Amino acid sequence: MNIKINENYDNLVQNYLFTETARRIREFSAKNPDKKVIKLSIGDVTLPLTKTVIEAMHKATEEMGHQETFRGYPSEYGSDFLRAAISKYYGTFGLKIDDEEIFISDGAKSDCGNIVDILGDNDVLIPDPVYPVYMDSNIMSGRNIELLPGNIDNGFLPMPDGLAKKPYVIYLCSPNNPTGAAYSREQLVEWVKYAKESGSLIIFDSAYEAFIQDKDYPHSIYAIEGARECAVEICSFSKMAGFTGTRCSWAVFPNELVVGDKSLQKLWARRQATKFNGVPYVVQRAAEAALTPEGFKEAMDNIKYYMENAKLIADLLTEKGIWFSGGVCSPYIWLKCPKEMDSWTFFDWLLDNAQVAGTPGAGFGAEGEGFFRLTAFGSRENTEEAIERLRKLL
Ligand code: MLT
Repeated sequence: MNIKINENYDNLVQNYLFTETARRIREFSAKNPDKKVIKLSIGDVTLPLTKTVIEAMHKATEEMGHQETFRGYPSEYGSDFLRAAISKYYGTFGLKIDDEEIFISDGAKSDCGNIVDILGDNDVLIPDPVYPVYMDSNIMSGRNIELLPGNIDNGFLPMPDGLAKKPYVIYLCSPNNPTGAAYSREQLVEWVKYAKESGSLIIFDSAYEAFIQDKDYPHSIYAIEGARECAVEICSFSKMAGFTGTRCSWAVFPNELVVGDKSLQKLWARRQATKFNGVPYVVQRAAEAALTPEGFKEAMDNIKYYMENAKLIADLLTEKGIWFSGGVCSPYIWLKCPKEMDSWTFFDWLLDNAQVAGTPGAGFGAEGEGFFRLTAFGSRENTEEAIERLRKLL
């Protein structure tokens, strides 16, 4: 063929991080079929959907089988009932987000990756380490990326101090994937102040907000005054309600987000209407159910279960004197690789010697080198077994 392809793809690492870890785990299992690998690698939930969610799905499925209640294409922006339920959810934090500012989608990953469509050739500011989708999607679009180093000294929560006041597209993820660190209210105030003074846009990924236990850590960027004028927020039912395989999320585009006479909300609406046909009705009803008092309580019970796993892992690392962060407001534990091993060496070493799989920190950015992520999303039984294996090995 003689067509031109997007050569920016040459600048990506060969495999997406979780594709590569899965490939190595598969390869190990093929060579060692008698060894049971415990995966604490990709942040995928293991508890089933809750009773309230399943009942809503059954009911909606039944509706789809009858002429009078059947539905065709869902709204490309999301059904009114789910937008209203999410608006009400923000109300529980004392925040007012109008229904039409909320756009339903099939995943925070999709929205994080797709938002580049409505943005021009800006300088992009990305904390390092962080969820690889921000970096990869901007590389695919050929954007100029500047990294903000996270490290033990700044608690993996880089701040804008010392940055030139120029307009950036800034990605923030709090509680952070992979480090589990969460920005405090005061820190987010600084970020919003910086964004407003520099004319920047913050893309705030709050996919893990439901894990926040402490009232000093905001669940939403809109808890900060002025954020409506400078921030988009992307959140998800994946980790909150176990929807990783069900697929439902939302993005908030406040009315105040404007560039000249152009509204970001309108651009996003136009983008979604053109390239997206909405989330299935059954799934949206399931998501709505997850936000009812009963559904939300069940979701929180599951989060409690995962956070108990996190505590078990954290206790082991404390016992072994290994530095770590996370596990308090987040299902991720971010640890310093023992014996000065680099991330991928530690990944292979752990797989070979304990058959426990995690995610190498280097996959989240250069500053993640020498660190490693474990997830608390495993079953209790597998988490306990992994801990026993690690106790013997580390
Ligand atoms: C992760 O392991 O970081 C997440 O599961 C990835 C995702 O949410 O896409």
